Amino acid sequence: MSEKLIEIDDRDGIVRLTITRPKALNALNSAVLAELEAVLTDLEKRDDLRAVLITGSGEKSFVAGADITEMREKTPEEARAFASQALRTIKRLETLPVPVVALVNGFCLGGGCELALACDWAVASDNAVFGQPEVLLGVIPGFGGTQRLPRRVGPAMALDLVTTGRKIDAQEALRIGLVNRVMPQAELEAYADELTKQLSGNGPLAVRGAKLAVHDGMEQDLDSALALETALFAFCFASDEQSEGMSAFVEKRKPNF
Ligand code: CAA
Repeated sequence: MSEKLIEIDDRDGIVRLTITRPKALNALNSAVLAELEAVLTDLEKRDDLRAVLITGSGEKSFVAGADITEMREKTPEEARAFASQALRTIKRLETLPVPVVALVNGFCLGGGCELALACDWAVASDNAVFGQPEVLLGVIPGFGGTQRLPRRVGPAMALDLVTTGRKIDAQEALRIGLVNRVMPQAELEAYADELTKQLSGNGPLAVRGAKLAVHDGMEQDLDSALALETALFAFCFASDEQSEGMSAFVEKRKPNF
């Protein structure tokens, strides 16, 4: 049987996905993308899903990009199909109804950076290296980088990165808002555990509602987005979660969601 390219660790609905192609620094080829899409298709159906963490195997690389060896001989039509497969898969990760967090444990280049950009937020080890080096290979980013990067860090910084192809370290990634936190690699595990504990203690419907409000609201004008927030806020009051959460506060105990 062939080895799994996506390892799954499921702790009561907090699911950690590890891209496992260490010999190629976890580069994304069509087999990895197909397996990831199949995993996401299963996760989308789960009502008990509470969060997804995604990382790369080993201590050197999150994802070093799309697979250059596989892309090298592609025709324009084949390149379009490869990019479409990746965009579809990455979109499914982005639109999971729960928080999706990238644990960036090393090289985060090209398609790897584009994968991290589709996550709700990213934390990085202090040895992480980011960049969209596609122009060095004679192409442009093809997995969403020209669109999600400017939305996250602003058009000037995105243009700096996609036209020079320069690599930046974790501290610069933090400064420009590409990642939320930087920590020694040895602490990423403890961060993941802490996050798991935190998210497990929160109302699962409320967490989903908060993500929906931010994602859908960002696509709308402010008044429509505020109306969406009001609708979702009111909807919370139809749930057991709201009565449990507020009763627990008043009764000075921990809520049991
Ligand atoms: N695709 C395929 N294989 C890759 C790869 C990639 N993106 N990145 C690394 N590898 C492979 C290497 O070929 C090497 O394989 P072999 O041992 O069989 O030779 C192995 O991983 C280890 O890599 P290195 O020996 O190069 O390791 P290093 O520590 O010297 O360098 C690195 C690490 C700086 C990340 C370097 O590997 C590198 O520059 N990789 C390519 C990064 C890149 O350009 N990414 C963008 C790809 S294009 C893209 O993603 C397009 C898009 O938007 C869709």
